[in-house]
Order: sequence, then structure tokens, then C-alpha cells
Amino acid sequence: MLEQFEKTGEDALADLKKVTDLSALEEFRIKYLGRKGRITQMLSQIGKLPREQKPQAGQLANKIKNEVTGAFEQRKNTLLQSQQQTGELIDVTLPGKPVNIGKTHVITQTLSELLEIFGRMGFAVAYGPEVESEWHNFGALNMGPEHPSRDPFDCFYIDDNVLLRSHTSPVQIRVMESSKPPIRIVAPGRVYRPDTVDATHMYMFHQLEALVVDEGVSMVDMKTTIEQFIHTFFGPETKWRFRPSFFPFTEPSAEVDLLLKGKKGKESWVEMGGCGMVDPNVFDAVGIDSEKYTGWAFGFGIERLAMRKYGITDIRLFFENDLRFLDQF
Ligand code: DAH
Repeated sequence: MLEQFEKTGEDALADLKKVTDLSALEEFRIKYLGRKGRITQMLSQIGKLPREQKPQAGQLANKIKNEVTGAFEQRKNTLLQSQQQTGELIDVTLPGKPVNIGKTHVITQTLSELLEIFGRMGFAVAYGPEVESEWHNFGALNMGPEHPSRDPFDCFYIDDNVLLRSHTSPVQIRVMESSKPPIRIVAPGRVYRPDTVDATHMYMFHQLEALVVDEGVSMVDMKTTIEQFIHTFFGPETKWRFRPSFFPFTEPSAEVDLLLKGKKGKESWVEMGGCGMVDPNVFDAVGIDSEKYTGWAFGFGIERLAMRKYGITDIRLFFENDLRFLDQF
């Protein structure tokens, strides 16, 4: 009887070695471990033995059963694993690979917000070229041949009369050349200056230009529009001021300062950009009747606006393409 038991165990282990796929494994299970399987039968024989033989036979049968089921489980695991590796078995309940979802750059987001705010105030959007003529960038804006801003140290010239625009104000000229008042536009875009790069300077940055031309336009329109913009963009409590200034293309001119909390909660005035009433010489340059029409304009730095709004202290962060920074917006 005991020999028979041992034979069953040996047969089982030998058969298991020949099993190479899951269906053969199932056949094996039925043959040995199923309800009528050889191992199951072996165990049921013990009950029929005379009392004194039971302990020894029981021990042996149990040992054999454990060996065979252990080997069976092991075989099953290896077969399952190798099937998974060859992709035959797909677990549809496993979570998929995460897809990296992109988003717009913080400057693009800021720009969209600006265009949205000015859109609601009735401004259309205008664009101009980044490679610009001297006439549009300077001459038509009442900046004579001797104006210091024309200095090659302050501009990227392409040839004597062509340069990368150093501000978005030439878009004012292009719009006035191609359309008649009433004009109410904002013009966003890149501008270029050979500045030494540091926390607040870049050789390329963005500006938002605005131009309004119509009959009877006054500085009050400019002031209320700028105030409405600042309160929408930075919050209704934000304090700001005009500071008298000079630009060749506006008269009078002002700079717009915001009172903002800096580090340690200390408030300070920060310059956002320039503005003013369009100089009659600019109207003359584009053939708009300066007796009939008045207008106002501004040019704000978009990086500056974003830096103040989000508490960013280094302009270089915008352009380094570090996703740890960009992901925050
Ligand atoms: N273009 C000027 C600059 O880049 C900013 C500016 C000032 C724009 C006054 C304007 C303005 O439209 O009216 O420094």
C-alpha cells in the first residue's frame, strides 16, 4: 500500500514536469488533484486501513499530497508569469499608463487673460511683424534720427533700416496706416532688446500695446480703462498711480505704477509700463487728422504683469522650460 502511495507521488511529479501550458496543467489537476484524482483517491484509502496502519499511511499520504500540490502551484505560477510576459494574458483591470497632459505656458495663459479682459471692454486684437522697419519702430513714432533708443547697442539690427522690433508700439502705426478711426485695439507680442540677462531682464520679452483713436477721446478714458484693467487683473483693492514721464509718441505721458506687497509684506511701487495721449506728430505721420481726432495708448510688459500677479521673482524662469516651474500654473 505504501509503495503504491509512493508510486502515485512519483508519477505525479514526473507528469508535472511534462506540463508546458495551462490547459495541460488543468488536465494534470483533474488527473491527480480532482475529486476522482489519484491523490484524492489515495487519501480516501486511508480510512479503510486497519487502525494500526493508519498513522504511518496517513503521514506518508499527506506528505505526498503536500509535495504534489506545492509543485503544482509553483508550476502554475511560472506558467502564468511567462504568459503575461509574452502578452498572451491581458489583465484589463490594470490601470493604464498615465498620459502626460500638456498645458499652455504661463505667458500664454496671462496673454489669454489680458485679451479676454480687453475683449470685454471692446478692444479688438491686432498683430504686427517682429522684424520691423526703422520707420515703424521709430520714425513714425516721433523718434528722430538722433533718438538714443535707435542706438545699435539697444536694438538688434538686421540691416540699416530693419530691426527686431524693440517694442510693440510700431503696431499702432501699422493699424493707423491700414484702418480709419474709430480705433480700439490691443496688440500683444514679442519684443527684442540686447539687454544683459538678469532676474528682471531678457533679450526677448512680451508687451501688450493698446491704442484708442476717436473724436473726443480724453485722458479720462485712458485712466478709467487702465483702472478697470488693473482691478480686474490684480483685484479690486489694488492701488496704482500715474507718474509723469516722457515718451516721444505721447504727450502728455505717464508711467503706470502698482502698489504691491513684496517680500516680508512690505509695499512698494512697481512700474508696469508707459502710456499717454497720442502725440499729434504721430497722427501726422500716418495721415490721421490731428485736429479732429485724439487718442491714447499704453505699452505694458507682460512678464512683469505675470511676475507681479503670481509672485515670480526671476524673469528667466519663464524661458528655461523647467516643467517643475511651468507645471505650477
Ligand atoms: N513703447 C514703450 C516702451 O517699450 C512703452 C509705451 C509707452 C507704449 C507709452 C505706449 C505709450 O503705447 O503710450 O518702453
